[in-house]
Amino acid sequence: MDTSSPRKLLSAIRRALRNRFPLCYGMRGTAPINPAFGSAEGTPVDRFYIERFLDRERARITGTVLEIGDRGYTERFGGGVTRSDVLSAAADEGVTYVGDLASCPEIPSDTYDCVVLTQTLHYLRNMSAGVSELARILKPGGSVLCTVPGISQVSRFDMDRWGDRWRLTSLSAKELFSESFAPEDVSVDTYGNALASVCFLQGVPAERISQTKLDRQEPDYQLIVAVRATKARHA
Ligand SMILES: C[S@@+](CC[C@H](N)C(=O)[O-])C[C@H]1O[C@@H](n2cnc3c(N)ncnc32)[C@H](O)[C@@H]1O
Repeated sequence: MDTSSPRKLLSAIRRALRNRFPLCYGMRGTAPINPAFGSAEGTPVDRFYIERFLDRERARITGTVLEIGDRGYTERFGGGVTRSDVLSAAADEGVTYVGDLASCPEIPSDTYDCVVLTQTLHYLRNMSAGVSELARILKPGGSVLCTVPGISQVSRFDMDRWGDRWRLTSLSAKELFSESFAPEDVSVDTYGNALASVCFLQGVPAERISQTKLDRQEPDYQLIVAVRATKARHA
């Protein structure tokens, strides 16, 4: 703590109070307490819920798996993975297919047991086309595990590259996936509550909120919308 002048001491105390008690001292100005979802301070609240969802669905992350951007969640939550592919809009290291999920004819039909599609569908200009491609590239009986933001700031990194376009609700997610999957094979869950949403927008990480509070789900505060859609075995 820099205490070399009264002004520096005061601002150091303010900073410490903001970090220790973000909800009391952090929300006086218009800027967030921590920028970039609070990722420099800990786990962004949306990631806490995304990982909850993937942990619950981990039995489906098996066999041939496609993930977007990297294979981080396939490696962390998968089991018995025989092939791990990556689709990305950018030609980064480890990427199997560089392209657009809305139109990816280079990926053969009926290929994957699981597609892990976290925080990407809302970047597509045409989400319907993307969901239709998912139904095509999944094997019969395979599932897509998809998360999208319901409540979120714009992701500036993604906005400046491929565009950050949409926010969904449980209703629009169900309708969107039911265009290409049988509605009874589409299950939608939501995660979040008012406190979690405020903390997420303010960049207060999950580690600063009690587990009991994060676990309380309020369906009108849909921070994360999570979809599991399974391709029918008989086409
Ligand atoms: C925020 S990451 C999402 C995936 C990451 N595994 C995660 O959970 O954060 C953004 C990724 O979306 C990919 N992306 C953006 N637009 C895309 C598109 N139209 N088709 C396929 N991938 C896309 C980018 O290449 C980037 O790797």
